[in-house]
Amino acid sequence: MSDFVQTLDAMIAERKKMTSPLYQLIMSGNATQRLLQNFVMHRWPIKNFWTRNILGIASRIDDYDLRISLVENIYEEETGRLTDSRRHLLSFVDFGNAVGVTMDDIKSAPLLPETQAVIDHNVGVCNNTSVHFTAGVASVLLLMEGQPPIVSPNKRSMLDVMRDIYQLPPSGYDYFVHHASSTEADNHVSELEDEHASVARELLRRYAATPELQDQCIRMLARALDLRHAHFDAMLTRFYEPGEAPFRYQEAAA
Ligand SMILES: [Fe+2]
Ligand SMILES: [Fe+2]
Repeated sequence: MSDFVQTLDAMIAERKKMTSPLYQLIMSGNATQRLLQNFVMHRWPIKNFWTRNILGIASRIDDYDLRISLVENIYEEETGRLTDSRRHLLSFVDFGNAVGVTMDDIKSAPLLPETQAVIDHNVGVCNNTSVHFTAGVASVLLLMEGQPPIVSPNKRSMLDVMRDIYQLPPSGYDYFVHHASSTEADNHVSELEDEHASVARELLRRYAATPELQDQCIRMLARALDLRHAHFDAMLTRFYEPGEAPFRYQEAAA
């Protein structure tokens, strides 16, 4: 059984965010303002479903301790009150504001087909009660929260890169404090996500108890990895020109 969870973790590690050319470019410090703006506009619709995806899973967990862990995760996501921060989706919008996009820009951006495909997958495995919820735990919860550290070749975290290279102000980089602050020595993307990923692994050990359910988890995770990388590639292909200058907050604000 633990082999099966290790298989899922290995699949996620093999195609972690830093294997994507989009993340490699962002982490190199060479992302342009247009790319970072579109990164926010096209990641947002997926993040906007996140708590509802978790709720779809939580509503089907009969174990009190595991269910309350999901409820705490959702409460923190929606309010930021457990970490004395703010609704996570809004701190992601604060990052958008720092690179020059407003909430109106985000809401009026057309949905890319590659974005829609990720949303459809996530809703299909987390919120559709005809699909066992463990498929959602493996291919949405564990994939997002069990992500290895996002670290540049010179060992900087995504938080470091946002603060020190793109020179974002505190409101602009705060999102990354709770979501991408770990460095290479860590085996998780942030402290907070590590707690969340532990719950996902426990849910899988407890409830993905048959070979059929385990096989479904592996298939759905493989599909989710394909879809998410297609989504990353779509942003890079459509919104990046190497001739454009890298974004620096100070210069854009001047
Ligand atoms: Fe979050
Ligand atoms: Fe989380």
